[in-house]
Amino acid sequence: MAVPQRQPLWAIYLIGFLIALLFFKLPWWLAYYSLRANRPRKSWTLRRTIHVQIFRQVTKLFMEFGIADGRDLSMEVPQKELEPLNARFVWIPELEDDLVGIVAEHAARAGVKSIAIPAYWMLREGSKWSPEHEKAQKDEKVVLYFHGGSFAAGSAYPSHMTAAIPKGLLKYSTSLSRVLSVDYRLSSGPPTFGPVNPFPCAVIDAIAAYRYLVCEMGFLPQNITVAGDSAGGNIALAVTRYVVENRLPHLPPPGGLIPASPVTDMSSSHASADSSHYLNAASDIFDLSPYPYLRSDDFRGYVGEIDAEGTKENRYLSPASKFAIPPDVDGDIRLFSGFPRSYIIGGGAEQLFDDIVALAEKMKEDGVDVTVDFPPDAIHAYFLFYWHEPERTESLVKCAAWLDGRPAEVDVELAGQRGDDLV
Ligand SMILES: *[C@@H]1O[C@H](CO)[C@@H](O)[C@H](O)[C@H]1NC(C)=O
Repeated sequence: MAVPQRQPLWAIYLIGFLIALLFFKLPWWLAYYSLRANRPRKSWTLRRTIHVQIFRQVTKLFMEFGIADGRDLSMEVPQKELEPLNARFVWIPELEDDLVGIVAEHAARAGVKSIAIPAYWMLREGSKWSPEHEKAQKDEKVVLYFHGGSFAAGSAYPSHMTAAIPKGLLKYSTSLSRVLSVDYRLSSGPPTFGPVNPFPCAVIDAIAAYRYLVCEMGFLPQNITVAGDSAGGNIALAVTRYVVENRLPHLPPPGGLIPASPVTDMSSSHASADSSHYLNAASDIFDLSPYPYLRSDDFRGYVGEIDAEGTKENRYLSPASKFAIPPDVDGDIRLFSGFPRSYIIGGGAEQLFDDIVALAEKMKEDGVDVTVDFPPDAIHAYFLFYWHEPERTESLVKCAAWLDGRPAEVDVELAGQRGDDLV
């Protein structure tokens, strides 16, 4: 944690923040939002409304003070610590093969290259690592997962909040027995946005992890599904694009893709007065005031040297941008030609919703087999929050069914969980 702990000012601020939250804001919210008409979404329970408000305060605090919860990626985690979490630490070796295409060009310009990075094998609850896990089993299915956190925070550590997706898929899928969750290198976030690990650093780590699954572990590419939430969804799309576009003989494309509340347009080309960016500013977990929505400026640590024009046109950074340039401008290779079957998740109450819808539409237009799950009143990355039921469990159950290639059977009893309404 990058908390400036020895600064007395920080401690005073934090105490003030907590007092204001507990004794002023919370009572006010409880009163104000007890009226359903005042809630950002009328269907929301009071409990959910308060959770979102608290989350907004905390994300704002984190952004103002540059608190990131990433781990020191040079350290190995002892196996003893991971045993109770059904997980196993592994080093992903650095890429031996040369990078190619746009990613290679940007890597040279940004001066970034591949290094060994940590990752975690996450197993089904109750199962233990055994010698047969050292290689892929015949026809074994696997999910390669990238956590969220604005490219600057978060961790693949198996008890981190973002582990909800790998855990959910392992719980509800009948064909999946493990997930590889990658601790890709983080860039620098607010307020400093220092020049740390800019694009395509995280994409290079993702390519190394994909190569590890195929070339070292022996998974069949068709048996690999690449998934990620938020910034991790952007990275999942980017690594898939890399292997689709470059047609590397040893790295064929994966069999599936799950972008969950993905960041898909850092240029906000779909933002307008009546787009989700504005309309959902009050119903999402980010309070970005004075700006209403996430902009490329909020990702400038990751975007690095790439200018506004580049951010708008770069299909790796902004695949859903109106201005993304396809791989083959004159020919018939479209922006998403060759992409695997995809399951796209997005919340109707999130700012980035219109970008996610644009992504799904573009992919369908380009011939990709796309399934969408867009619960109307759900916030950004709702599937991570235990207080965002029933949407959270319903989505994990449906996504796991899609992964297994069977129809979803959403348990109607799940809907009963709405009963924890406080009103
Ligand atoms: C893995 O891929 C192979 C080849 O495409 C396929 O036959 C098999 O059914 C896949 N395994 C699973 C569990 O989907």
